[in-house]
Amino acid sequence: MAVNWALPFDEKIYPEKGVVVEADAYTRMHSSTIGDYRNFWAGIAHEIDWYKTWEKIIDDSNPPFYKWFAGGELNACYLCVDRHAMGPRGDKIAIVWEGESWGDGAPKETKRITYRDLYKEVNKVAYLLKNTYKLKKGDMIGIYLPMIPELPIVMLAAARIGVAFTVVFSGFGADAIAERMNDAKAKLVVTADGGLRGGKIIYTKQMIDEALGDAATVRDVLVVRRAGCDANMLEPRDRWYHEELAKIPDNARVEPERMKSEDPLYVLYTSGTTGKPKGQVHDTGGYMTIVHATMKWVFDANDEDMYWCTADIGWVTGHSYVVFGPLMEGLTQVMYEGSPIYPEPDRWASIVERHRVSVLYTSPTAIRGWMRFGEDFVKRHDVSSVRLIHSVGEPINPAAFRWFHRVVGRDRVLFGSTWWMTETGGIMISHVPGKAIIPMKPGTNGMPIPGIDADVVDVNGAAQKPGERGYIVIRKPWPGMPLTIHGNPQRYKEVYFSRFPGIYYAGDYAVKDSDGYFWILGRADEVIKVAGHGLGTYELESEIVRHQSVAEAAVVGVPDDIKGEVPVAFVILKAGTEPGDGLREEINAIVREKIGHIATLKDIYFVTRLPKTRSAKIMRRVLKAVVTGTVIGDTTTLEEEASIDEVRAAYSELQKELGNK
Ligand code: PRX
Repeated sequence: MAVNWALPFDEKIYPEKGVVVEADAYTRMHSSTIGDYRNFWAGIAHEIDWYKTWEKIIDDSNPPFYKWFAGGELNACYLCVDRHAMGPRGDKIAIVWEGESWGDGAPKETKRITYRDLYKEVNKVAYLLKNTYKLKKGDMIGIYLPMIPELPIVMLAAARIGVAFTVVFSGFGADAIAERMNDAKAKLVVTADGGLRGGKIIYTKQMIDEALGDAATVRDVLVVRRAGCDANMLEPRDRWYHEELAKIPDNARVEPERMKSEDPLYVLYTSGTTGKPKGQVHDTGGYMTIVHATMKWVFDANDEDMYWCTADIGWVTGHSYVVFGPLMEGLTQVMYEGSPIYPEPDRWASIVERHRVSVLYTSPTAIRGWMRFGEDFVKRHDVSSVRLIHSVGEPINPAAFRWFHRVVGRDRVLFGSTWWMTETGGIMISHVPGKAIIPMKPGTNGMPIPGIDADVVDVNGAAQKPGERGYIVIRKPWPGMPLTIHGNPQRYKEVYFSRFPGIYYAGDYAVKDSDGYFWILGRADEVIKVAGHGLGTYELESEIVRHQSVAEAAVVGVPDDIKGEVPVAFVILKAGTEPGDGLREEINAIVREKIGHIATLKDIYFVTRLPKTRSAKIMRRVLKAVVTGTVIGDTTTLEEEASIDEVRAAYSELQKELGNK
């Protein structure tokens, strides 16, 4: 059976606003940027401020360890803060921060931070790090903070003095923190007493205390007061952030360090299915260039916009598109502390309405989460300020796309699915690749941005035919690519540059259609082989959620005596729907009709929740283990975003739920 990979959608949508160019015109323009990609990127890099221009556009003397804009000097904090604070944007609001408290009688908290405020605060923190803690260029700090203004402030302060940082998502547990702190050799950790999420306190300091027992390099802990809970301050290691800052004069100034383009700005860890997390080391010059280019092209945001990226700063999306991107461009953005459905499922829509958000960057998971509650919650608010939507992180399924496009995008707003990875530093593929919009083909990711030579190849690395599934690769170096994996250059080479020697292997399955649009199908390791045919879990899930009663679905492959592997599905139903065999048959009918008999689901389990890592990735291994009755071991390929205990807890919870049926 031939699988039509482009099945879920077959339509082009023309948004109401923006300059639209047809795909072939864009392809021609794009090709012209690829041939001489070095000079093309040099032209873009000239748009940001450098203390000293580079000597070489790329130092490629030791591939694949490329150094972009080698010899150039700049400072990321200067670009994000000083330029605006000292210029006409001094009084412009950089961040409108909204605290989560919003429940009965709780004080509603909003902070409006201008670029000048940011300048003052960042300088004071830089002064503290430099003079009190004696941190200097070449050192590393850890940051484990909830979504409060101190998080971007500390990141910028570190960048100001040339100290690299590694942010650990505040939902991670002690083992994950310790592992990252050890690998990064962090000397100081900045945390908070606690954070607020979903009306509850997340005890961040407690988690740090637990983690640091196993993290020998950390000497000092700086604690921001946020939740007001007990922080169990340990002398002399722990100090309060506000007390230390109070000792520093208000007009303290620290000169930004002149960083080399190839000096690390930060390290951010990614987890795969095996091995320990990989510390992606991002440089300064190349990274700031890709972030600038994509802010300008993909978001096309300007001084009139209210920008909101809903990602947590603990992930790369937050690094590039909450901290460095919007601030470098001098935008005003919303930063929200807590759960987008607290205290009511319309919190996110109320944020859009109250702050008149015009550019929205979010994720399919968030959208599906909102969709579950129905559109009445959205209708309570005027969300007509939104003029551009992008999502990221996973393929957008048809139901989620259509719903969001209709209820927030009024069927007219451009809604793209940007593809990129922690490793790439910035967006690589988009429907607004170069300011101009290409007609939206929902479900696709659009086309590579200028200067990015992305392609889909077969197992031998040869260009794949249009419409055929292959692996996505990037053929030429790009600014924003990692310098290396922290402490393990060999692994960097092996993971990304050895499958197809010399070109970057992203690890995703993709299809390029005859118009040149990319369809990312999901990780190459999440494909189920049914009688030798590969089926992407995403394609199956997209079909299942077409059923009007289905809110969310996850598919895994389980062993089958005859076919090798067959898919089974875990399905969350919309409120008010009763599970049953009739529904099972209806869902399977859709799957069979849309993909073929080969995709017939052997079983459909109705559940109320899916086991997920804290970054919202489905723990497929847990699903698989429950179905097959295998035991979750301690040493097998754990999803590293969850501890063994969490995986076990998810396993027994699911087992119990299924056992009760
Ligand atoms: O599988 C792709 C998926 O997310 C992976 C990268 O994950 P991470 O490093 O956590 O970064 C996520 C945010 C940049 C990719 O290999 N992915 C990301 N964006 C999309 C996507 N899959 C489909 N469509 C997308 N828009």
